[in-house]
Amino acid sequence: MSGLFITFEGGEGAGKSTQIRLLKEALESLGKNVLLTREPGGSEGAETIRPLLVSGNSDWDSLTEALLFSAARRDHLVHKIWPALKRGSVVLCDRFMDSTMAYQGYGRGDNKLIQTQLQQLYQMIASDFVPDLTFILDIDPIIGLKRSCDRAGNTERRFENMDISFHQNLRQAFLKIAKNDSKRYHIICADQSVENVHQQIMKVMNEYV
Ligand code: TMP
Repeated sequence: MSGLFITFEGGEGAGKSTQIRLLKEALESLGKNVLLTREPGGSEGAETIRPLLVSGNSDWDSLTEALLFSAARRDHLVHKIWPALKRGSVVLCDRFMDSTMAYQGYGRGDNKLIQTQLQQLYQMIASDFVPDLTFILDIDPIIGLKRSCDRAGNTERRFENMDISFHQNLRQAFLKIAKNDSKRYHIICADQSVENVHQQIMKVMNEYV
């Protein structure tokens, strides 16, 4: 595939949406063709699944959740991500496979069995396809949760409503996942101005565009 696949990851209220929008504008001003998308969602079929996962308070276990996220992801890959990469676009995705590993694999505790199952599940839906580049926006969950709770009109609170230990586990999980591949993952401190975070992202991007 000739395009570039870039994912943004992190806990709640880390500012991913703002940063992804700024990066899209910067890349477009360089003449790039950019697709901005998100998970869960991004394609018609996956957007149909999204409300099940992010709203309400269903008491699913991690594997059940992961199966739903994976069904949405497969639809998103087939209908949106892979065709855009084939066209040579830069695809910017707000969350992807690393969110599944962090939220479903570590959020409720460091569970080796589910982590292995999640790897197998990912392989089943995407084979050896992985992002070219991943930005992890790192923030203390107390600050991040306050930011996202202050956001007016946010009805997608299913994960935000998990207790603080869940969110602390996530933060540690993202930092641990990033150690697996120092070339793909870039950890950016998100507790600074929007402009500073954007500049750090652009510094990394300069190697790719
Ligand atoms: P968002 O808040 O970035 O829109 O993401 C929706 C929620 O879904 C967020 O709380 C993180 C969660 N999530 C998972 O638990 N596993 C996943 O695989 C993905 C993509 C998101």
